[in-house]
Amino acid sequence: MIAIYPGTFDPATYGHLDIIIRASKIVDKLTVAVLNNSVKQPLFSVDERLQMLHETCKGIDNIKITAFSGLLIEFAKQSGANAIIRGLRAVSDFEYEFQMALTNKILNEEVETLFISTSARYAYLSSSIVKEVAVLGGNVDSMVPPVIGDKLLRKIGKQKVGGR
Ligand code: PNS
Repeated sequence: MIAIYPGTFDPATYGHLDIIIRASKIVDKLTVAVLNNSVKQPLFSVDERLQMLHETCKGIDNIKITAFSGLLIEFAKQSGANAIIRGLRAVSDFEYEFQMALTNKILNEEVETLFISTSARYAYLSSSIVKEVAVLGGNVDSMVPPVIGDKLLRKIGKQKVGGR
């Protein structure tokens, strides 16, 4: 199976990395696809997000990390992917995820969306929460890998606060 794991990854968290590692064990090839035309205003540029993912996914052999723009389903087709992977945290994710999955299915019924449930320890985690905690001076060591935490602090111009 060739699968795509799409997202904004602004920045990637331990929750994303957990899904990447688990998905990479199930599929033959996994493309981690960073959205380049988000309506959201990302904190990090696409290049920065790609670089952070490259640095944290070293050692996973069957993955490729790349950017995409436009429709995800078109990118999936170009990549020869037959599945889209999404992580599910809570019921609150479900409505949006289900809508996306159905939309993508309408656009191309050959591509299946597969949901991987988050590991319980990351169920609370999102890129937005990480950014909010960092901006307000909180410690994000348990939320993002050190290389991403450092870049985040540099980006928002904060000093690192005590670890736990
Ligand atoms: O990390 P996110 O922000 O939850 O990821 C959302 C993403 C990138 C998967 C979604 O916004 C997306 O696929 N965007 C591409 C545009 C598209 O294909 N839209 C129609 C499907 S709903």
